[in-house]
Amino acid sequence: MAADKDLNELFLDTLKDIYYAEKQILKTLPKMAKAAQSEKLQQAFQKHHDETEGQIERLEQIFELLGKPARGKKCDAIEGIIDEGKEIMDEYKGTSALDAGLLAAAQAVEHYEISRYGTLKSWATKMDLKQAIKLLDQTLAEEKKTDELLTKVAESEVNYEAAA
Ligand SMILES: [Fe+2]
Ligand SMILES: [Fe+2]
Repeated sequence: MAADKDLNELFLDTLKDIYYAEKQILKTLPKMAKAAQSEKLQQAFQKHHDETEGQIERLEQIFELLGKPARGKKCDAIEGIIDEGKEIMDEYKGTSALDAGLLAAAQAVEHYEISRYGTLKSWATKMDLKQAIKLLDQTLAEEKKTDELLTKVAESEVNYEAAA
């Protein structure tokens, strides 16, 4: 077993993964907002776009706390989720199911982020990185809130319209 890789390294690697993912998400959210038909959904995407800028800054603060340069590492998982979202935008353009598809894609993104930030927070706790725990927790709360908001939008209008 290679003894030279430890939790510190895994933490840093995962931080790079989510940093890359957040930057991709930042680029994609305006496109999703533009594609969405429901005004509530457009607003939700715009709001989360602004939040994502703050989340990227928090990640940069964590890199700084670790004394490492803020650098992303290609995350295949988020690429795949975003690609699926793009497919939905193309294939369901102009249909009543478009927003339902966009919502589903956005929730897949949020769930990926919640999983990553949850893991990072628990590792930061193990490593006793108090400041990092605080920053990760703030973002985790935003991701969870976004997921809940998307569920509300889905239940209130989008899925009904898709079924009508
Ligand atoms: Fe995020
Ligand atoms: Fe998010």
